[in-house]
Amino acid sequence: MKVLLIGATGFVGRPLVRALYQRGDSCTVISRSGRDPWRQPRVDVVQVDPAKPGAWTDHVARCDAVVNLAGERIIDPTRRWTAQRKKLLRKSRIDVTRIVARAIKESRNPPAVFLNASAIGYYGPRGDAVIDEDTGPGKDFLGELCTAWEAAAKEASDAAPVCLLRTGMVLGRGGGVLGSLLPLFKSGLGGPWGDGKQWWSWIHMTDEVGLILFALDRRLSGPLNLTAPEPVTVNEFAEALGGGLRRPSLLRAPAAMLKLALGESATALLASQRVLPTQALRAGYSFAFRSLYQALDDLL
Ligand SMILES: NC(=O)c1ccc[n+]([C@@H]2O[C@H](COP(=O)([O-])OP(=O)(O)OC[C@H]3O[C@@H](n4cnc5c(N)ncnc54)[C@H](OP(=O)(O)O)[C@@H]3O)[C@@H](O)[C@H]2O)c1
Repeated sequence: MKVLLIGATGFVGRPLVRALYQRGDSCTVISRSGRDPWRQPRVDVVQVDPAKPGAWTDHVARCDAVVNLAGERIIDPTRRWTAQRKKLLRKSRIDVTRIVARAIKESRNPPAVFLNASAIGYYGPRGDAVIDEDTGPGKDFLGELCTAWEAAAKEASDAAPVCLLRTGMVLGRGGGVLGSLLPLFKSGLGGPWGDGKQWWSWIHMTDEVGLILFALDRRLSGPLNLTAPEPVTVNEFAEALGGGLRRPSLLRAPAAMLKLALGESATALLASQRVLPTQALRAGYSFAFRSLYQALDDLL
């Protein structure tokens, strides 16, 4: 299969492209920087800004599938959600997605499937309620961002099945949320944040990549929650992480402290979201890592 990927030089895209070429697929990666972490004959990197329409969209007609993961980092401890930052978080997702979706819609040879990144932020904070793909969108900043992001992707749905990848917190090596938390927990200064009772829907990188490949191969359409079948509370997460590292994990970061340090982006860490991967299980996906203990055992 020939796969066109946008925003694939990041945390999720790097192992995804590796998994694709390792199973024999070829990849064209559209990237602003043009950096090529793979250096493989079956991976071509095209240096161009996907937020600008141009000749690069001709690649759409030459591929069997499109995967778009592009977007500025949502939770970045060094950057507050100022009005300007929020504009960039939206623009970097919605503009790119709209350009890709229109290219698919207008193509004489549309791909067999279009997978577009989204996030469980779509649902907004929901307390203890169980969330599946039928749950409606939240009204907060992330809920509205994801709704507009998904609407832009759905513009392609007359031409190809569109799958909306609503990803939870991805746990993997060398980045993401674990990359930020590990130094703190290793030094014994880690612990739960907020009241710790909020639900935290995580997924191991193996299943994040596995589910994207599964959606590609089955040409899934519609929303797909990319989360493990056993979400945990933040109290359980902190205890499991501290336990896995054999370090104390009792120092609680109160919500007010997080808000002071991170501003409004702290809401993304404090939101309670108990998300189940209902569609993935229904479609027959078999998770490599169902429980957090299994996942941390592998990653630590
Ligand atoms: N990681 C998670 O836990 C998680 C959770 C929920 C949702 N997601 C979503 O899944 C997608 C992939 O996540 P990730 O962790 O791999 O993200 P990432 O490491 O931040 O990578 C995102 C990629 O998007 C491209 N990008 C960044 N800013 C851009 C801009 N202004 N305009 C166009 N492209 C831009 C970059 O590619 P180039 O520099 O090569 O252009 C970058 O490699 C993201 O959309 C993210 O919001 C991730």
